[in-house]
Amino acid sequence: MAATTPTATAGQAIEEVETDLLLDAVYRLRGFDFRDYARGSLRRRIQNRLRAEKVHTITGLLDKIIHDASCMDRFVDGLSVNVSSMFRDPGFFRALRAQALPVLRTWPYIRIWLAGCAMGEEVYSVAIALEEEGLVRRCRIYATDINETLLERAREGIYPLGLMQRCTQNYIQAGGSRSFSEYYTAAYNNAIFRPALREQIVFAKHNLVTDGPFNEFHLILCRNVMIYFNQRLQDRVHHVLYESLANFGMLGLGAKETLSFTPLEGKYEALDAPHRLYRRVI
Ligand SMILES: C[S@@+](CC[C@H](N)C(=O)[O-])C[C@H]1O[C@@H](n2cnc3c(N)ncnc32)[C@H](O)[C@@H]1O
Repeated sequence: MAATTPTATAGQAIEEVETDLLLDAVYRLRGFDFRDYARGSLRRRIQNRLRAEKVHTITGLLDKIIHDASCMDRFVDGLSVNVSSMFRDPGFFRALRAQALPVLRTWPYIRIWLAGCAMGEEVYSVAIALEEEGLVRRCRIYATDINETLLERAREGIYPLGLMQRCTQNYIQAGGSRSFSEYYTAAYNNAIFRPALREQIVFAKHNLVTDGPFNEFHLILCRNVMIYFNQRLQDRVHHVLYESLANFGMLGLGAKETLSFTPLEGKYEALDAPHRLYRRVI
């Protein structure tokens, strides 16, 4: 017992050094800063990359990403967790319709930012809710992500048809009032979302770690992104989001994310705390 603890500790210390060097290299060569991502989930994803690239050590992976640009691309793609679904957490979308959309209606022109939009599932969900509330024509939706490959998929708006049954259930639970299949055409096992839904959407790359505010918004959703960040990085992102909100602009977070205990907590009031919907008041 006494012999294993120091060895394990030494092994962990070496792995930490290797991880630091790897993340430094990615930052210096590509500008992607994963250094303040939460280490637990980062470690699991790096282990996945080791297996996928068939290398045995993090130093081996470092060597490969430095000298092989496609390996670097795969690494950056593999590090982002992009799990999403249409009307994910239907309760959040119900709260959005009930609490946030009536407030949005009071502005003549509405700017919305979806930060960390993955493959666009959330963006199409928001566009559908806005359309049903008769608001979409007054909106400009900026959908951003760090990952270009995901953004390309989001722009296409094509998803496996097999997922639509689950999405339809979510849509109904989220308060959808039409037939969900109105929004897509089925072809070759795919659901191709109506291009008209994209008319008000701008897809663009934005890195929450290194980029700052780029406009002033009435609604920002940044859901299930900060759970992968450490406290320092979460604080940075909260500042960017706060600085990007108009007076009385609204912020939606993921189910496991909260404004409580953040330095900016006092600058918001909860519109619907259980569903992580807040409004900037100062
Ligand atoms: C789990 S998905 C969340 C998708 C969607 N918001 C939702 O809740 O279903 C997290 C997304 O955050 C993106 N992401 C991770 N780090 C980021 C960063 N530094 N800047 C912008 N987006 C980032 C990932 O690429 C991924 O698409």
